[in-house]
Amino acid sequence: MPPVWVSAVLGGLFVLVALAISDLVQTRHSIRRVYPIVGRLRYLVEKIGPELRQYIVTNDLEERPFNRSQRSWVYQTAKGVNSAVGFGTQHDVSRPGSFHFLPSPFPTLNEEAPTAGAPRVIGPRRPRPFAPRSRVNIAPMSFGALSEAAVRALALGAAEAGCYINTGEGGLSPHHLSGGGDVIFQIGPAKYGVRTPDGGLDWERLRELGNNPQVRAIEIKIGQGAKPGKGGILPAAKVTLEIAAIRGIPAGQSSNSPNRWSDFSNTDELIDFIERVKDTVPVPVGVKLVVGDGAFIDALATARADGGRGPDYVSVDGAEGGTGAAPLSLTDHMGVPLHDAIVTVDDAYRRHGVREDITVVAAGRIITGADAAYAIALGADMVGIARGFLFSIGCIQALRCHTNECPTGVATQNRWRQRGLVPTQKRTRVANYATAVREDLMVVTRAVGLLSPGELRREHVEIVIDIGKRMRVSDLYPYPPLALQVLDLDEVRAARLAG
Ligand SMILES: Cc1cc2nc3c(=O)[nH]c(=O)nc-3n(C[C@H](O)[C@H](O)[C@H](O)COP(=O)(O)O)c2cc1C
Repeated sequence: MPPVWVSAVLGGLFVLVALAISDLVQTRHSIRRVYPIVGRLRYLVEKIGPELRQYIVTNDLEERPFNRSQRSWVYQTAKGVNSAVGFGTQHDVSRPGSFHFLPSPFPTLNEEAPTAGAPRVIGPRRPRPFAPRSRVNIAPMSFGALSEAAVRALALGAAEAGCYINTGEGGLSPHHLSGGGDVIFQIGPAKYGVRTPDGGLDWERLRELGNNPQVRAIEIKIGQGAKPGKGGILPAAKVTLEIAAIRGIPAGQSSNSPNRWSDFSNTDELIDFIERVKDTVPVPVGVKLVVGDGAFIDALATARADGGRGPDYVSVDGAEGGTGAAPLSLTDHMGVPLHDAIVTVDDAYRRHGVREDITVVAAGRIITGADAAYAIALGADMVGIARGFLFSIGCIQALRCHTNECPTGVATQNRWRQRGLVPTQKRTRVANYATAVREDLMVVTRAVGLLSPGELRREHVEIVIDIGKRMRVSDLYPYPPLALQVLDLDEVRAARLAG
């Protein structure tokens, strides 16, 4: 008998020779046919490329969609450790496109404005208006795209921090309700969770959901930044029995929602549909959209001005938005980016004199308080964050949400991979991160010399246009003339409601 190590080496050689022969004779992969065995390394390296680049190759500001500096800020704030930076900014602050707030020589003292306060009530005339407690909330992400462990961690953390969680278009699951906090129920074109067997809307089920005390608003999803013109895509591997039951679809088969609602195909029909939903549920009804031609947004604002019809809030998603799965061309080349999109929506409702009647929620690569402050200065009332909250529960930006192979258990239905994500542990990180963004928003607000983020306006920010040229954002995006007479929107609204 040869020693064990000799047998091991011989066994190894045998496996290598077998692999080499199989590479040489197969006809599907040219690289492996020409470079047997070594060619296989290419697939391995390609697979772990994002992680390799993250750890070894790229610098702190290079990666996309979120660079290391942004991710680290979330990891640190979520863990509650020191998130300050040393030595100064790494950004090229003169780069065209950079924005900077104009600091006041007399910033607001912390004790003068200790917290970010609550945003305006959504749908004040609805039978059950929604008074959100936070200006920073969790943007829609479905159970299906996300794991049970992730949804539970987010729901628990959101409740702890006083944020709402939006279900995304995958239906309302017990996991969304598990925190006991506020939930917005989103419906997409596939109507998951409120769907009749033939794909219609189950109005009775919608009535039930709208009366659930935790459900604070219904959101009709028209578009999503990462894929306007395309419905949700859930690969077969992610359609477990539980997810299938919640969505009302067959298990184990991939599910593609239609790219348009069958219930409306023009603005008038959309408004009629929203009105019917409003008649069915007591809570406010909003729409989520991606801005394209501003004429559509104008038509929504016209409907509001002409008799209070249409959505109680508009959730605007920038083209830079995230997704569980989307076609590359839509992700890269469809829809207006967030900052211009906010202005389009804010201006349309201001032009028609009804800006104070609705709430604008903005989402799209918002991570820090400065990002949130800029969105609010441009015209949003509050912000939604999706991927930032995923970082808070351990996402490492492996970019595999669409494969069911998410290594951190966040965007997979694989039970083993979910083991690492313990909701009762991660809830605190979600809550810490939400609190940190709100406090960071206040840090910016105080530095500008204001008392509340709601006072941030376009004239508080400048943007670099070219080397040596800066522009006040209020000159870049001038407020529509009517808005000049409507300086204190909340006051005007209070007067209207009183009248
Ligand atoms: C995993 C994942 C799933 C998502 N699912 C939905 C969804 O069901 N409905 C929706 O309107 N948006 C969905 N989104 C988009 C987010 O709600 C959000 O609008 C977008 O990602 C921009 O926010 P962010 O830049 O903070 O991620 C999803 C995003 C991610 C990352």
